[in-house]
Amino acid sequence: MSAAEPILTVEGLRCSIAGQQVVEEVTFSVPATGITAVLGRNGVGKTSTLRGILGLIHRRGTVTLAGERIDGMPTHRIVQRGVGYVPEDREIFSKLTVAENLALAERQREPRREFVAELFPDLVQRRDQVAGTLSGGQQQMVSVARALINDNRILLVDEPTKGLAPKIVAEVADALQEASKTVPILLVEQNLEVVRRLAGDAIVIGGGRVVHTGTANEILDDEELTRRLLGVHAEAHS
Ligand SMILES: Nc1ncnc2c1ncn2[C@@H]1O[C@H](COP(=O)(O)OP(=O)(O)OP(=O)(O)O)[C@@H](O)[C@H]1O
Ligand SMILES: [Mg+2]
Repeated sequence: MSAAEPILTVEGLRCSIAGQQVVEEVTFSVPATGITAVLGRNGVGKTSTLRGILGLIHRRGTVTLAGERIDGMPTHRIVQRGVGYVPEDREIFSKLTVAENLALAERQREPRREFVAELFPDLVQRRDQVAGTLSGGQQQMVSVARALINDNRILLVDEPTKGLAPKIVAEVADALQEASKTVPILLVEQNLEVVRRLAGDAIVIGGGRVVHTGTANEILDDEELTRRLLGVHAEAHS
């Protein structure tokens, strides 16, 4: 982990859904710059960890954002503190236009409209298009743009490249890399090529617990570890 003060620390996070524990004991910290990856097989608790940080599901443990405890706060306050969320499966308003999707996300006096327009020129052109008629990649851009329109202190981004064609995966990765120059990102990602390109540190979750932390490259270069913890060959993705 980087020497500077982390932007987010999670200690002993335990989460449950409908009385069932889905995160057992998760502890990690996120550096104040760059992209930190959350890795792990399907169903190990990656999404639940993000949702627990946001208070969207029942959770216990300590979560600290820039030195302030946020684990006792309701979700709307955590969002106001500057935690942006790009959920799995994008979850944009499919019957509203691109412009309407963005306008509804704005929560501060001076939203970062120019920044978003520069990052996603395609969305400017398509501002009056109904979002549900966009390609998967364009919809993902809308979802990321919704989080970037505000001055967040961290973005929690859940599997942004899932189900996208390889060329579009690269475009989404480019956008995240550019965005990460302005805000640190905690990124759940199963595409290891994307992880290798974007992430500095990485956290591997298995069975609701952190089973490994290190640099993304160190983890992905360790074939045995990658196979054991992720169930894939890192090279198989290239
Ligand atoms: N709404 C729910 N009700 C009951 N159990 C759930 C619910 N959502 C998730 N779970 C369970 O919680 C565990 C963790 O799920 P979670 O979605 O956090 O995993 P994940 O690592 O994000 O998986 P994936 O890679 O498939 O996105 C799984 O065993 C899952 O079946
Ligand atoms: Mg998930």
